[in-house]
Amino acid sequence: MSPYLLTRTLPEDATGAALRADVLHGLTRTPKSLPPKWFYDARGSALFDEITTLPEYYPTRAEREILVTRSGEIAEVTGARTLVELGSGSSEKTRHLIDALPALHTYVPVDVSESALTGAANTLLAERPALNVHALIADFTRGLALPGTPGPRLVAFLGGTIGNLLPAERAAFLTSVRGLLSPGDALLLGTDLVKDESVLVSAYDDGTGVTAAFNKNVLHVVNRELGADFDPDAFAHVAVWDRDQEWIEMRLRARAAQTVKVPALDLAVHFEEGEDLRTEISAKFREEVVKSELAQAGLSLTHWWTDERGRFALSLSTPA
Ligand code: SAH
Ligand code: TRP
Repeated sequence: MSPYLLTRTLPEDATGAALRADVLHGLTRTPKSLPPKWFYDARGSALFDEITTLPEYYPTRAEREILVTRSGEIAEVTGARTLVELGSGSSEKTRHLIDALPALHTYVPVDVSESALTGAANTLLAERPALNVHALIADFTRGLALPGTPGPRLVAFLGGTIGNLLPAERAAFLTSVRGLLSPGDALLLGTDLVKDESVLVSAYDDGTGVTAAFNKNVLHVVNRELGADFDPDAFAHVAVWDRDQEWIEMRLRARAAQTVKVPALDLAVHFEEGEDLRTEISAKFREEVVKSELAQAGLSLTHWWTDERGRFALSLSTPA
């Protein structure tokens, strides 16, 4: 029987306090915005899993292809005994890595979504009863404290989730990850790559509306947690490619002028017709940019792998 541990590094009501602060800040500035981590309640995590199966959403399949092809090599190069995964979600693709690491002692999935962590651990442990799983409910942007498990450590950050951070947040994040690594440890980073605009936009605006439902889920979260009266149908899902910043920007656009009440904040927020609420960016990368951002954080790129069609990259880097 292997131990399954779940550690909450966020206080029980952290969600409440942090959500209130983020919503107050985001809805009272211009342009209005909400931070992406609030998409992922149980419904949001389930909708994201649905996104990963959409024909338009290529990143999951492309990254899986790289993991299937390269996990053996990653295992050989890192010799990892602990695999830490940030923003692990369903841990679905991670199995390729877990199964390829012969010396693996403990898997440490880290996520803000308790439902995702519990679901992933149940599935993994049913199939691999000998694996130690120490799950952390934590915000990976807030300075992580990792359990004392054997090295070498491999920290994986997959799914292109790093692209959801703004450039300054990304720099701070990479520096904090560098601080978690000892000599002999490594970072495995998944980054989606710059490509044709129509391919990118379709990936974030699918024909069946799953992505729209996912984007609007943040309004359901604010309604439930803060008693707000957002009408999700009164907003349209919009995905635009910002050519200069090289990121996709997800927005919710008010279909008509309206005022939304947020009782928990004693706030009334007015939207003009056509006004956008920015919910997420998803930055796309080039090899030189990844390499230099890693170097800025004290990490040297040692490997760069892409899928056959060059859509997505996995990089391995080690403390410089
Ligand atoms: N790695 C998975 C899931 C990607 S979706 C994949 O590649 O398919 C992004 C995941 O990161 C979600 O599970 C979400 O709950 C989690 N997440 C988002 N922001 C987070 C934060 N600040 N701290 C911890 N987890 C976060
Ligand atoms: N990390 C995912 C990405 O950037 C998150 C995501 C996928 C997403 N589709 C979305 C976020 C739609 C908001 C809306 O690819």
